[in-house]
Amino acid sequence: MFNRLKIMTGRLTLTQLVAGMFAFGAQAQDASPLIPRPQLVTSMQGSFTINASTTIVHAAGQQVALATAEYLAGLLRPSTGFPLPVGTTSSAAGNQIRLELVAKDSSLGTEGYHLSVTSRGVVLKAARPAGLFYGVQTLRQLLPAAVEASTPQSSSWTIPAQQIRDRPEYGFRGAMLDVARHFFGVADVKRFIDLIAAYKMNILHLHLSDDQGWRIEIKSWPKLTEIGGSTQVGGGKGGFYTQEQYKEIVSYAASRHVTVIPEIDMPGHTNAAIVSYPELNCRDTAHALYTGTAVGFTTFCTSRPGTYTFIDDVLRELAAITPGPWLHIGGDESHVTPKADYIQFMNKVQPIVSKYGKQVIGWDEIAHADLQKNTVVQYWADAGNSKMAVKKGAKVIISPAKKAYLDMQYDSTTRLGLHWAGFVEVDNAYEWDPATLEQGIGRKDILGVEAPLWTETIITMDDIEYMVFPRLPGIAEIGWTVPALRDWKDYRDRLGKQSDRFRAMGIDYYPSPKVDWKK
Ligand code: ACM
Repeated sequence: MFNRLKIMTGRLTLTQLVAGMFAFGAQAQDASPLIPRPQLVTSMQGSFTINASTTIVHAAGQQVALATAEYLAGLLRPSTGFPLPVGTTSSAAGNQIRLELVAKDSSLGTEGYHLSVTSRGVVLKAARPAGLFYGVQTLRQLLPAAVEASTPQSSSWTIPAQQIRDRPEYGFRGAMLDVARHFFGVADVKRFIDLIAAYKMNILHLHLSDDQGWRIEIKSWPKLTEIGGSTQVGGGKGGFYTQEQYKEIVSYAASRHVTVIPEIDMPGHTNAAIVSYPELNCRDTAHALYTGTAVGFTTFCTSRPGTYTFIDDVLRELAAITPGPWLHIGGDESHVTPKADYIQFMNKVQPIVSKYGKQVIGWDEIAHADLQKNTVVQYWADAGNSKMAVKKGAKVIISPAKKAYLDMQYDSTTRLGLHWAGFVEVDNAYEWDPATLEQGIGRKDILGVEAPLWTETIITMDDIEYMVFPRLPGIAEIGWTVPALRDWKDYRDRLGKQSDRFRAMGIDYYPSPKVDWKK
């Protein structure tokens, strides 16, 4: 341990070093293989066992803590079989799991928490509801994996006594689901939200339109979904979300402290829209619906005023049902849009997003346009574009295909996925740091991290799970845990111990040979 700390001191601040000493010391005694790794864990003597008389309480008057208390009870009741009534209390008593919002605590920030487990009970404190939610996710992983089962299990629900202080490195920790290449219904999206939230991710980016499908109802342009939503890659029936269903997804996500970012990709990746309304194309010709997997062959007509009327309507309707601060306007791989037209197009579309009170996100090619103040650039392929964005004052979301694309195959034997950016094994997906990946893009330039799942080859929820697990917990840890506390070997051991949890959650994961999976 000391050798390792000595090696690490070169790039550690004093605070990180002290946190690291506590955490490494604690980790040695602490068998809890938490992912993401918390900032500070202090093990203590003893343990607390949840039993048939345990109650879940929140301080009187703290209605906002009630939702998390109910959520925790909902997690624990099926597997424990205990009633776990939720109530309020004015004073601490024994055999309780107590959730408490405390006055603003700068050491906890907006998402941090303090979890205390003693032989008397559990006390979870946070300055904001999100912190309580993340403390609950930690508590969940401190319990035996059987807690994830949906039917009563005979287990002892014992939690080792310890203190955890924790908060994230980045405030933006996301996953993207492409529902355009293959459509996934509301139930699948809700499960996806539950899975990412379990690892403390807080962003769901939905890729809602592409050449193969348009997936969100736009009331003023109904053919988008009638025609554009009617198929998908391979020619299946496709589908779309009504605005009511989209609102249901957004509200479910919010209950898990996840913000939805909707993406309408433009001016390329627009075949489904152009087939629905041929006037969106300069030639006025209706393309055929497209069910293949090529990219870069379509563009909106950037010179027609009608194109911007259409975009205004779409973004207005989408902004009205999206409480989060961002609208993603794509902008990638517009190979048949002349560069000058592309720039002019992006310069016209960004103010439409602002007009509806939202901030723009675009893939890294958008850096060629004049970036509005607050436009965020998502680095996926071209470091040069992303550095140009930083020079123009933009914040960057780090999603490098070579590291963070969940549709890249693990190795040459992977049945699903693609490999145009290379094979991405579990160690490759974990062993990198957003703030040192590219010179010229530093910590202060970075909004956060996102792991996209493109679905050209992904058809079922099982397919999603196989590509997402076990890489997503690693990306979640990159977003949450300070670099000084991240180490592949330590992570690999913790990940190996998650396999019984994955099984109890019904997750069809890829058992990577890089990891010693503990049965
Ligand atoms: C992308 O992968 N085309 C953003």
